[in-house]
Order: sequence, then structure tokens, then C-alpha cells
Amino acid sequence: MEKENAKNPRNRIYLLTTLCVLFWGLLFYFHFVLLGGNLVSESISLRSNPIKIESFHPSSDPLVQNNPTNALISNEANKSISKDFVDTEVNNERTLMSNRKINVGDIEKPHEFMFMKALRTIDDKNDPCGGKYIYVHDLPSRFNDDMLKECKSLSLWTNMCKFTTNAGLGPPLENVDGVFSNTGWYATNQFAVDVIFNNRMKQYECLTNDSSLAAAIFVPFYAGFDIARYLWGYNISTRDAASLELVDWLMKRPEWKIMNGRDHFLVAGRITWDFRRLTENENDWGSKLLFLPAAKNMSMLVVESSPWNANDFAIPYPTYFHPASDADVFAWQDRMRKLKREYLFSFAGAPRPDNPKSIRGQIIDECKKTKVCKLLECDFGESKCHSPDSIMKMFQSSLFCLQPQGDSYTRRSAFDSMLAGCIPVFFHPGSAYTQYTWHLPKNYSSYSVFIPEKDVRKNGFSIEKRLREISPEQVKIMRETVINLIPKLIYADPRSKLETLRDAFDTSVQAVIDKVTRLRKNIIEGRTEYDNFIEENSWKFALLEEGQREVGVHEWDPFFSKPKEGEADFDSSVDAGKNSWKNEQRSRAT
Ligand SMILES: *[C@@H]1O[C@H](CO)[C@@H](O)[C@H](O)[C@H]1NC(C)=O
Ligand SMILES: *[C@@H]1O[C@H](CO)[C@@H](O)[C@H](O)[C@H]1NC(C)=O
Ligand SMILES: *[C@@H]1O[C@H](CO)[C@@H](O)[C@H](O)[C@H]1NC(C)=O
Ligand SMILES: *[C@@H]1O[C@H](CO)[C@@H](O)[C@H](O)[C@H]1NC(C)=O
Ligand SMILES: *[C@@H]1O[C@H](CO)[C@@H](O)[C@H](O)[C@H]1NC(C)=O
Repeated sequence: MEKENAKNPRNRIYLLTTLCVLFWGLLFYFHFVLLGGNLVSESISLRSNPIKIESFHPSSDPLVQNNPTNALISNEANKSISKDFVDTEVNNERTLMSNRKINVGDIEKPHEFMFMKALRTIDDKNDPCGGKYIYVHDLPSRFNDDMLKECKSLSLWTNMCKFTTNAGLGPPLENVDGVFSNTGWYATNQFAVDVIFNNRMKQYECLTNDSSLAAAIFVPFYAGFDIARYLWGYNISTRDAASLELVDWLMKRPEWKIMNGRDHFLVAGRITWDFRRLTENENDWGSKLLFLPAAKNMSMLVVESSPWNANDFAIPYPTYFHPASDADVFAWQDRMRKLKREYLFSFAGAPRPDNPKSIRGQIIDECKKTKVCKLLECDFGESKCHSPDSIMKMFQSSLFCLQPQGDSYTRRSAFDSMLAGCIPVFFHPGSAYTQYTWHLPKNYSSYSVFIPEKDVRKNGFSIEKRLREISPEQVKIMRETVINLIPKLIYADPRSKLETLRDAFDTSVQAVIDKVTRLRKNIIEGRTEYDNFIEENSWKFALLEEGQREVGVHEWDPFFSKPKEGEADFDSSVDAGKNSWKNEQRSRAT
């Protein structure tokens, strides 16, 4: 039947006409409805031209190039739009467009933004990776793999070669005393996150080679390893060389132009002070990576961030536990719940006799005087304080673990102790609360105890007395909170993958994606995330609840007041970097 019909010439013309109409119909449908009609946020609908969005203009910067009248905002908001958009986060003037919703009619050509295609993937219900794609730059090997080959040069104190084995986890730990589990434990170096993170990224489920789809762009530069090679005894040009080469390389890539690098992130498993050299003075500490204009646009993930800067974000130090499956984590958590803990509190660390402000002396004195405290004294040379076995055993037998700042605000020890189900006691908000805001609960009293340093310095103050005020029921609830945090605080084995649990890596990547996505939506809407953003108050902005747009006076202001330039007692921050070699030398055994 059909064959005969087709042979009839009139029918054939009819068929051709139908096909033609159908073809154009589908084309229009596809063009306007499927590609064009997508919403980026509920408040704006976009009349868009998909062809233009997809085309890539490596040599042009849309934000700068486009004439404002041609762009997104109505007359009243016509004030150097590109500048305001671009400076959303770094701009501390009250931005004219904050909080204002833009009418649909004002949005003429959203395709100026090269990230539109990537944003649209969020709404593609058929794409499980929509809104989660990560593009990884294919850097020359001198920025990463070559450093591993030359691992002997990575540290003056530690032979890093053994610590870069097993995808960065280091040598496996034998469970001799039954303190660890039988598998998943490694003698991980505290500065190994560069390589652990990069190897975890290789397993990320939504990698893409199409940068126009990317929710964020990862730069696999081993920034921590790089600077560790040159911190001692090298001139500043040697210390800065790789950083300068890196930004030079990045800025030439077409991906840079999408958002001027504001969708880029990289990981350095060291404290931020190693990358914040303020001057060109040879005696100053570290590199100036984090002060380079390009790096100011990127997000740098470090194990200790600066309270006063907006381009770095703290992620957990690595612990010794790197499970390969959910079951390993659950088994560990169960064990930590059931332990009998014989000590009220414990401390592992060395005094800081050179630092009159340090409270470590008081802590050690009190601990020595009471049976309810367990002390592991650290000092140069051999000491149990560096044996993962002794450390984990002590934390597992304590209810509370004291975490005073050392040379810098933060310590790896805080993470080791939480892994052991020990409730951390912090003495400075910069040791955790203003740092790991992606990984720890906002309500710090739900999982930790805060005792301000000045209390400890008071005559007759007793940590024991303070801790005994917490009821056993409360202790139990807090410990349960700590134990439930464990998955988020550890780095899973990069060679396998947890099934359902989200580890420190997953949590960090999601946070970066959320940040870039918020920024993109804000750019489209012509608004800023906050009102009156002042970079020096970064730590306060990081503590805001969702929807809060402005910071005010904070109870922790005294902890973060910056001394005036030239003043002698710069509270532990700048000196932190300089002194970090002591830490490194002390911890060379582990
Ligand atoms: C927009 O701003 C430019 C430069 O500030 C100005 O020349 C122009 O007249 C303004 N356009 C409108 C519609 O306000
Ligand atoms: C990206 O390209 C490389 C090299 O062509 C290939 O090996 C890799 O599998 C690709 N990755 C994805 C996620 O498509
Ligand atoms: C810095 O040190 C490197 C190698 O040690 C040397 O080649 C270079 O000339 C030095 N640069 C300056 C400015 O001193
Ligand atoms: C950083 O971003 C701002 C705003 O997008 C841009 O004006 C500036 O050129 C960028 N810096 C670099 C080095 O790309
Ligand atoms: C924070 O946690 C503590 C202890 O669990 C609880 O008593 C308090 O109500 C919480 N605060 C807020 C604001 O949720």
C-alpha cells in the first residue's frame, strides 16, 4: 500500500511538502524551545540565541567588549556594567545593582556570557552530571608530575618520596596494636593534599573535555609541593618562578576568558602564609602566588586560609585513614562509638617557650598535674608524639582533645582527634570555626568546646573544671556529632571510591561548584552576593547564614583585629609561615 502511494506523483509532492514543513517545524522547535527557553533562575527568563552561546570566542572578553547599552541592564543601572559585574566579590563600594531584580525585557542578549551553556546543563533532567562538570587543565608536567619524579627535592627535612607513594597516601600502616583498622590506614604526610586531591579528581564522576560545559575548572598545579622545594635558602625569583609561569600559561588559555579565572580553582596542601609574601624583600617568607592578580580571581584551597582574604578556602588536613568503601567508614564509626575512654582530656604537642602569648605552657602544666589528662610531649628528635599509633591511641582513649594554636592557627591534630571520636577543644576561632566552613557545622558548640585563650591565661583557671561542667549526656550527643562528621573530614582512597558517602574531596568540589554557580547567577542578575563586601572581613562573610547579605559587629572581632603596619606583635599570622619549618622538622617522623 504505501509503496503504491509513493509512486503516485501527486502523493509524492504532498509527501515532500509535509516533510519540508516537518523539518522546519522541528528546527524551530529545537532552536527556540529546547535550547532557548531554558531558565537560569526563576526570576529571569532568557530569550537567547543558542548558536551564539555555543560559539567560543577565545580572543574576546565579553564582559569588557560588550557595549553596556547593548547588554543586560536598563538605563538606570547603566554604570560601567562590566566593571560592576566583574568586581562583584571584590568590590567594597555599595554596588548599585544589589538586590534589584531585573525585568525580563531588560535582558536582551544573555549570550554575552560564555558560561550560559554550562549553566543550562543544571536544568537538563536527563543529565546526571548537569551543573557538576569539572574541566581539568592539561598542564605541562613540570607543574605536577615532574615534581613527584623529583620527590627528593620536595622537602629539606623529609624525604617525600615515600609519602608520594600509593597515590599520595604514603606507606600503609600495620595494625600492630589494633589501634587502626586492618586496611585503609597509611602514614600520610600532613602536606600531601596536593597529590591526594589531584588523584581523587581523576575519579570524579563528571569530568568533561568540553570546557563550555564546566561548572568549574580545576588547575592540577602542585602549589604546595612547588613552594616546599624553595622555602629555605632560595631567592624570591626562584620561589615565584613556577607561580608566574602558571598564571602566564593559564591566562593564555581560552578557558580563562570565560570568567577571567573566577571559575578556576587549585589546591595547595600547605598553609596560606606560605603563598602570601607581601614584599620583594628577600628575607620575607614564601611566594607571592596568592597576591598575583590572576590568583586573586581563582579559588585556592589550602589547609589553613587567611581570615582577611577572599581567594583562599580551608579544606581538611589529611588524616591517616583513607577508606576504600563505605563499609570501612561505617565499621570505623561504630568502633569509635563503643570505645571506653579513660581520660577526660588529652594533648599532643610541644610548648612554645619563645612565644609569650602561647597558652601551650599552661596547658601542659595543667595536664601534668591531673590524672584525668593524658599528655604526649613533642620535641625535636624521637618522640612518641610523632607516631600515628601513639597519637591515635591517645585520642581514642580521651573524651576531649585540646587543640591550641601552634605556629599558625590550625593543626592537623584537630582532624586526627575528630577521626578518633574525640571532641575537640579550640582556643581560637581561627583554629577551625572560621576556617573549615565547608566541612564543619556552623554551630560550633554542637561538636566542640570553645575556651578563649584569655580565659586560660587567667590565674586559677582550670580546663578540667570547665570540661566537667558539661553533662555526660551532652558529651555523648557531641561525640555522636563528631563521629557523624568523620566521612566529610577524611580523604577516601583515590584509587577507589566510596559508594554513597561524601568525603572531604567531594564536599570541597561541591562547595567550589556552588560558589561559581552563585557567582554566575549573580552576574546574570546584575547583583552581588553581599552588601558592602570588604575583603578584610572575609572571615565574617564566610560565617553568614544563607540569605544574609551584610556583616556587623562580631564577638570574635578581637581575635582578628589586624595590627597596624609596622607594629611588632602581628598575632601569629605572618610569623606562622616563618615558623612552619619548625613544625615540618618536628613532624619529619610521620
Ligand atoms: C550610559 O553610560 C554612558 C557612560 O557612562 C553614557 O555615555 C550614556 O549616556 C549612558 N546611557 C544611558 C542610557 O544612560
Ligand atoms: C578527554 O580527552 C582525553 C584525551 O583525548 C581522554 O583520554 C579522556 O578520556 C577524555 N575525558 C573525558 C571525560 O571525556
Ligand atoms: C636566584 O637564584 C637563581 C638560582 O639559585 C639564580 O640563577 C638567579 O640568578 C638568582 N636571581 C637573583 C635575582 O638573584
Ligand atoms: C580578574 O577579574 C577581573 C574581573 O573579572 C578582571 O577585570 C581582571 O582582568 C581579572 N584579572 C586577570 C588577571 O585576569
Ligand atoms: C548549637 O548547639 C548547641 C549544642 O547542641 C545547642 O544547645 C544550641 O541550641 C545550638 N544553637 C543553635 C543556634 O542551633
